[in-house]
Amino acid sequence: MRALAAAALALAALLGPAAAMLEVHVASGSVFAVEGRPAVLPVWYTSRSQKKPYVTWLLHKPDADPFQILTYLDGVVKVEESDLKRRISFLYPVLSHNLSVLINGTQEHDSGQYMCTVNVADDSSSTGKNVGVINLTVLVPPAAPACRLQGSPAVGGNVTLSCASRKGKPLPSYQWQRAAPAAQVFFPPMQDRARGTLKLTNLSLDMSGVYVCAAENRAGSATCNVTLEVLSSSNAAVVAGAVLGSLVGFGLLVFLGLQLRVYRRKKRDGQEEAANEIKEDAVAPKSLAWAKSAAPDAASRTSTLSSAPGARPKLEGPRAASDAASDGPANGTAGSRGRRPQGPPRHRPPPAAAGLARMGAVAVMVPAQSQAGSLV
Ligand SMILES: *[C@@H]1O[C@H](CO)[C@@H](O)[C@H](O)[C@H]1NC(C)=O
Ligand SMILES: *[C@@H]1O[C@H](CO)[C@@H](O)[C@H](O)[C@H]1NC(C)=O
Ligand SMILES: *[C@@H]1O[C@H](CO)[C@@H](O)[C@H](O)[C@H]1NC(C)=O
Ligand SMILES: *[C@@H]1O[C@H](CO)[C@@H](O)[C@H](O)[C@H]1NC(C)=O
Ligand SMILES: *[C@@H]1O[C@H](CO)[C@@H](O)[C@H](O)[C@H]1NC(C)=O
Repeated sequence: MRALAAAALALAALLGPAAAMLEVHVASGSVFAVEGRPAVLPVWYTSRSQKKPYVTWLLHKPDADPFQILTYLDGVVKVEESDLKRRISFLYPVLSHNLSVLINGTQEHDSGQYMCTVNVADDSSSTGKNVGVINLTVLVPPAAPACRLQGSPAVGGNVTLSCASRKGKPLPSYQWQRAAPAAQVFFPPMQDRARGTLKLTNLSLDMSGVYVCAAENRAGSATCNVTLEVLSSSNAAVVAGAVLGSLVGFGLLVFLGLQLRVYRRKKRDGQEEAANEIKEDAVAPKSLAWAKSAAPDAASRTSTLSSAPGARPKLEGPRAASDAASDGPANGTAGSRGRRPQGPPRHRPPPAAAGLARMGAVAVMVPAQSQAGSLV
């Protein structure tokens, strides 16, 4: 008997791979799954032996050593300690020879090379044939992107609309479209699909409208939008002034703080809430300190401050106008809205301008006649 087995082995060696008996098969060398969804890694083996196999599943991630995630040894299934512990199982009874595994709730870091090795006591295989390898790639749909408008939207001027999603695998590409009723699609070089920018030059009044950006990859898509309000040149000066003010001016901010105080003093007879009182008085000295230190993030602080909700309902003059303006850059999804204060300062001008308008900056800086209609 033993001699016979030895003879068979010798024969197998002689005949090469074709005669090998134990062999592991994979249905596909690479499997893709969308984050959060289940994934199946399809592997089975063929063998003439009906003996129980010894099976190990290893996961090899880039820049890490392979580790065991699942085994079948001496007839016992064991799920090893790992991230996958509660999410991985054999899909079928091992004795069916189908060794496919199911991974539930896939996560991006589950991506890697999965290796299934099979040994059977009285069967043999030629080198490497008893291993099945599958690359799992977990794709991540784009997160809700943030839409922004940079530049001054005056007739004849240029603006750049930008769109960025902080998540997505593979990296999302971006597509800007103008929404109905004047629906329009854009092409390079106006639109840069990789960077998410759309350049609109030589603006005219009829280019005003809602612009929608879709971030998309194989796993899904998400959108945000921005409202472009092209301003005739006389009104444009108002906004340009406000933007310039927000860039140049901590002086302005301090000035504004003073204005608020004056305003407050005038109104002191009325019923002012004590809490708001303290908050706004505290603003001016703080901004002075920032100005002195000239911190690089000062600009973003400015915008955070200028859009602080505390100051908004207090001033009545340019309310309607400022609301229209704030719709522009801030009209994105909740995601983009939430992230606004952390963004790089160069994206600031439009929100800052809106914020300043809200606080009455327009009223302070320009002749009263241009306030009301400026942004509507
Ligand atoms: C699987 O991934 C490895 C390492 O990243 C790579 O070398 C191999 O070519 C991939 N195989 C397939 C079938 O994609
Ligand atoms: C093993 O299971 C996988 C996943 O269900 C399937 O794709 C594959 O065809 C099966 N293999 C065999 C030989 O039935
Ligand atoms: C995966 O999810 C399916 C369906 O919800 C469930 O039947 C199965 O037990 C889960 N497997 C693991 C290992 O969590
Ligand atoms: C607008 O862009 C065009 C073309 O890129 C350029 O020639 C022009 O100088 C720009 N105008 C302004 C106001 O920046
Ligand atoms: C800008 O647009 C106006 C009217 O739409 C046109 O007359 C002018 O030639 C354009 N300028 C450039 C530089 O394209």
